[in-house]
Amino acid sequence: MKIGILISGRGSNMTALVDAMQSGEIPGAEAVVVISDKADAGGLKKAIERGVETVVVERAGRTRVEHDAEIISELEKRGVELVCLAGYMRLLSPLFVEAFPGRIVNIHPSLLPAFPGLDAQRQAIVAGAESSGCTVHFVDELLDHGEIILQKEVAVLEGDTPETLSARILEQEHGLYVAAIKKLAAKFAERSDKA
Ligand code: GRF
Repeated sequence: MKIGILISGRGSNMTALVDAMQSGEIPGAEAVVVISDKADAGGLKKAIERGVETVVVERAGRTRVEHDAEIISELEKRGVELVCLAGYMRLLSPLFVEAFPGRIVNIHPSLLPAFPGLDAQRQAIVAGAESSGCTVHFVDELLDHGEIILQKEVAVLEGDTPETLSARILEQEHGLYVAAIKKLAAKFAERSDKA
C-alpha cells in the first residue's frame, strides 16, 4: 500500500509512521511522498533524512481548490493509495475527499467527537475534562469528523497545562497512528488477495 503523508509542521507523527514502515512494522506499507503546504515545515528535513521524497505545495497564490488539485495530482502521480494527514492544518475540499474515497485518515489530539478543531488539548482543560486522548479517523468534508478507526484515552492531571497535556497525548499519538495504519494495511492486503 503506497502512502502519502501531508504535514504542515514539525512532523513527529509523520516520522513515527515512516520509521514504522521502514522498519517493517507495518507490513505492505511504504511511504512514497511527504507533502507540505509550508516550505518551512520542520518535518520536511526529517522526511529527507529518511530518504522519503518531499514536495511543497504552498497555499499562496492558489485557491483552496487549485491547491488541493495540485496536491491530488502529486499523490496520483506516485500511485498513492492511502493519504495520512499528520498535523496538516488545512481543511480538505470536497474535491480532495472525493479523489480518495475512504482513503484519507487523520490524527486528532482528543477523544472525538469531543473537542474538534484547534487547540483540542486546551479545550479539554478549559472544559474541566477528567480525560482526553487521541483519535485516528477517516476524513470527510467536515472538520475532525468521519468514522473512528482507533482511540486512546489519556488522563487530564491536576495542574496540567495545554503544553503538559499535549506532550502526554503526543506520546500516545505515535503508537496509535502506527497501529491504525497497520490495521488498514492488513485490510487492504486482504482485499487485494481476494481481488
Ligand atoms: C498532533 O497533535 C496531531 O494530533 C494534530 O497536530 C499535531 C501534529 O504534530 N493533528 P506533529 O506535526 O505530528 O508533531
